[in-house]
Amino acid sequence: MTSIKVNLGEREYAVHIGKGLLGDADKFFNLKRKVFILTDSGVPCEYAKAVAKLCESSVIYTVNEGEGSKSISALENVLKAMMSFEMSRKDALVCVGGGVVGDLGGFAASVYMRGIEFYNVPTTLLAAVDSSVGGKTAVNLGNTKNIVGAFYQPRGVIIDTDTLKTLPKRHISAGIAEAIKMSLTSDKALFEFFEKNDFSEDSYEKIITEAVKIKKAVVEKDEKESGLRKILNFGHTLGHGIEADGGLSELYHGECVALGMLPVCSDAVRERLIPILKKASLPTEYKKNIDSALTYIVHDKKATCDGIDTVIVNEIGNAEIRKIGFSDFSMLVKKIFS
Ligand code: GLY
Repeated sequence: MTSIKVNLGEREYAVHIGKGLLGDADKFFNLKRKVFILTDSGVPCEYAKAVAKLCESSVIYTVNEGEGSKSISALENVLKAMMSFEMSRKDALVCVGGGVVGDLGGFAASVYMRGIEFYNVPTTLLAAVDSSVGGKTAVNLGNTKNIVGAFYQPRGVIIDTDTLKTLPKRHISAGIAEAIKMSLTSDKALFEFFEKNDFSEDSYEKIITEAVKIKKAVVEKDEKESGLRKILNFGHTLGHGIEADGGLSELYHGECVALGMLPVCSDAVRERLIPILKKASLPTEYKKNIDSALTYIVHDKKATCDGIDTVIVNEIGNAEIRKIGFSDFSMLVKKIFS
């Protein structure tokens, strides 16, 4: 097992990574109180039950699988269920699932009685390498992703690598996309590891550990994304546009990020990136008309009237943030996808 501490003063917490940790959740989380366990219909129910078994008093609340559950109405239902369970400010919420459950549950925890403690148990590779750490919580409003939310740190995170065994291969690839993103912006050695190795099950623990180390370092320096943390949005501007255009029924978030990285890196970086994306079974071509995806970008949080805060990788392991006008951004994108 590896434990990584995220040092944020009074909001510090540990991320524990290893096999079979779910059955020991009570060693890492304070479950001696009312515990509201949030999961979704796509997550094997035994994971939430394994946590419930360790609690004195708990309920398991299951939302529908998918981005549709990151909505104000789903949030309202979760909060009503928490209220029916008569939770006090001293009780806790545990998110067992992927990014949707973590984002929705974390945000519910942040607003219920002005904030109760919550823990993350990510069961997808994508949530393990990125969203479960760092305290970004949110729901969507219409087609605009994550526009209603809060920075609200979990009290602890358990990543049980055994839970990844039940994940379909496409979900694994989507998670690998976020880890590739982090290597490009921050860790040349990890990128070279991806070049030299296959994405086998044996590599998941290393990939998660290295990604969480990168995330921790960034979040410790810039918790509320006033500067450096923006580099974690590499590939996400176009990625969110593609996601909004097609809906997640067509491409998963990680697949959209994979495509979104291609126009915002140098030719030399792209030449090395494409073989890795292909090895991870991630898309490198966009089959639809990209103009439609571009129309969603004006609504992105990274876009202001002066342009879009764009993360560019010209050299592996180094990212820069540049404000680019919408038409220049479109030109970069169309050079790659036309
Ligand atoms: N997923 C990007 C961040 O946490 O800042």
